[in-house]
Amino acid sequence: MEKPERLIDENGRRVDGRKFDELRPVKMEIGVLDKSDGSAYVEFGGTKVIAAVFGPREAHPRHLALPDRAILNCRYHMTSFSVEERKPLGMTRREIELSKVIREALETVTFLEEFPRASIDVYIEVIQADGGTRTTGLTAASLALADAGIPMADLVAAVAVGKVDGQLVLDLCDIEDKYGEADMPVAMAPRFNSIVLLQLNGRMTPEEFRKGLALAQKGISEIYRLQREALKKKFSSVPPMES
Ligand code: CDP
Repeated sequence: MEKPERLIDENGRRVDGRKFDELRPVKMEIGVLDKSDGSAYVEFGGTKVIAAVFGPREAHPRHLALPDRAILNCRYHMTSFSVEERKPLGMTRREIELSKVIREALETVTFLEEFPRASIDVYIEVIQADGGTRTTGLTAASLALADAGIPMADLVAAVAVGKVDGQLVLDLCDIEDKYGEADMPVAMAPRFNSIVLLQLNGRMTPEEFRKGLALAQKGISEIYRLQREALKKKFSSVPPMES
C-alpha cells in the first residue's frame, strides 16, 4: 500500500473521510458459533475478528492445572488471508506477544479463582486486518467470555489512538498505522476506569499522551455501550419454545 500524499486533508478529514475523533463503523454480534461455549464477531471498518471461548473445563495436561484458580489460555492468530502479504502459517513472534498481552488484560477482569484446576481457552482469529487487530480482538474476546457465562468484574473495551500528520486521531486504520508518527493501543475495564493494556509505538509528547488517552477513553465509552447493547440483544430475546 502506497503512502498517500497527506493523511489529513485541508478540511481535517482522514484518508477514509473520518473526523479525528470518529470510530470506524462498528459491528458486534454475540453467539455466532455453535461448537464453542461462547463466541463473538466484531468488526471495526475493514478489521474483522472472531473470538471463541471454551471452558471452564478440566485443564490438560493435568500437571498444568493450578490448585487455586483456572488457567486462562489465549491465542491471538491472524489467518493467512487476513493481510495483503500472505502471513506465514503458524504463530509468529508478533502473535505470541499479542496473545500474552491480551491474556494479561483479560486476567485482570476474569474471576479465575472460581474455577480451580480448570482452564478457560480463548481463541482470537483475525479474518481481515486493517489496523487495530489487537484492540478489536480484545473487545471480541471479552464479549465471548461473557457469552460463555464466565464471571467477570467488567468487560474489556479497547481502541488505538495515534498521531498522523501531527494530529491525534482515534481508531487508526492500517494506512494511518503504517504511515503515522505514533500508534497507542489502549484497553480499559470501563466500570473501574482502569487501564488493562497500554502500548505505544512511536513518539508522543507528554501533552499528546494525555490528550491521546482522553481521546481513547471517549472511544472506549462508545465501544462499551455497543458491547452492552450486543449482549442485551442476545440475552434479552427469548428463544422459541421447542414443540
Ligand atoms: O493490528 P494492530 O494495530 O493491533 O497491530 P500492529 O502490529 O500495529 O499492526 C497494524 C496493522 O498492520 C494490522 O492491523 C494489519 O493491518 C497490518 N499487518 C500486516 O499487514 N501484516 C502483518 N503480518 C501484521 C500486521
